[in-house]
Amino acid sequence: MSTASPAAQPPPAHHRRARWWYVGGAVVLLVAATAVVGGILEHRAWEEAVADYDAEVARVTDEAEGSRARAEGAYEKSLDALEDTLEDGRRTYADSEGQVADPAVREPLADALDHARQLRAADVVYPSATRVVEEVVRPNPFFPETLPEVRVDVVDGSNPAPAELDDAAAGVAEATVAVADAHRQWAFDELRSATTEGRDALADLRPQVGEGALERLGDAVTDAEEILDAGPEAVDPGAAVPLRDRVLGTTHSLWSARLARIHEERRAAARADGVDCRVARCVALTFDDGPVADTRRLLRILARKDAPATFFMVGDNAAERPEIVRAVADGGHLVANHSWSHPQLTSLDDAAVREQLRSTQDAIFEATGSTPFLLRPPYGDVDGRVRSLATRTGLDVVLWSLDTEDWRTRDAQETRRRVRAQVEAGSNILMHDIHPSTVDAVPEIVDDLREEGYVLVTADLLVSEADG
Ligand code: NI
Repeated sequence: MSTASPAAQPPPAHHRRARWWYVGGAVVLLVAATAVVGGILEHRAWEEAVADYDAEVARVTDEAEGSRARAEGAYEKSLDALEDTLEDGRRTYADSEGQVADPAVREPLADALDHARQLRAADVVYPSATRVVEEVVRPNPFFPETLPEVRVDVVDGSNPAPAELDDAAAGVAEATVAVADAHRQWAFDELRSATTEGRDALADLRPQVGEGALERLGDAVTDAEEILDAGPEAVDPGAAVPLRDRVLGTTHSLWSARLARIHEERRAAARADGVDCRVARCVALTFDDGPVADTRRLLRILARKDAPATFFMVGDNAAERPEIVRAVADGGHLVANHSWSHPQLTSLDDAAVREQLRSTQDAIFEATGSTPFLLRPPYGDVDGRVRSLATRTGLDVVLWSLDTEDWRTRDAQETRRRVRAQVEAGSNILMHDIHPSTVDAVPEIVDDLREEGYVLVTADLLVSEADG
């Protein structure tokens, strides 16, 4: 009946609405909080991005600023160093011209100098590179913001690079040292060989030349020995070369004076014997390349004819037959130098020429007790250098004026005919005692010449030759 329990009723509508409000409010609050936190985080991230961007822009700007000046400074510094090295190298190269000849030493310096000069002359450029700081866009739609792209030009070194110049300078310096070392060694060797010549001259000339002149040579040799004692590393070519010239020049003039006196004395002695080639029609018979065994036969012929002759001996032969050398000198003939082994003297270096001459002088001195003062260079091959070396060894160069060509014809009658056909006053007649046909021709040649009124003398007495 009426107490029937009321059926379950839904809550009133306003209750339901209130519950939705709570839920909605919570959601709104949550969203708002999220937005605030998100906003804070986004802002922080953006500030970091801005800081990074600013730092990058500052770095790039810094790099660009003064980059050209730095590149120019580095280039100029290396260029200055290169100039100095080039100047050193150029001077060393020029100073050693004609003195350091070895291309293996010289060419690397020439090449290094060329390379360095090309680099020096090259137009320098300063290449630049663009540094880019990327644009940054803020992703926040509420605060749109963009940091613009930044482009900055930075000078990136130079072309040629300083390192290239430094390498070129190092190359020049290294090659310069090699040439300078070789130059010092050359000057040392030159001075040493001049000093040897000077010492030999002092020994050879001591009894015969005025003390004053010898003293000058002695002083020069002493100065040279001091330099030599210090070794090649310490030699200054600029000082050694003039000293070498002083030693050689003094030696040369002492020997020249000595040779002039020898000639003067011999001519005076000949005049005392009634032979004066300024007046008489003098000719000289000369025999080259011996002595050989057959030279003895020639000596007998000349003795029988009482005819003087001149023998230009090969030192090697003289050393082998000293008794014949002595017999030649004892026969009243003039013994002279024709080198040791008959080479072309102009093709030899100074030391070898000297050796050719001196060893022959020594062999003849051994055999005869006196030293030759005339040299006939083999083949007549002579130049100023060989003449000068000969003078400084105490030898005057004598060639010939009448060539019998006996070595070619090997015919006594032909040799005689050639002498008769070509002889004139002052003739220096070239023959060879190593050919029997020549020895065969000598008696008739002597007779022919005397019939024509010629006076036979040793080669040094001929006026034309000895006056030269
Ligand atoms: Ni000869």
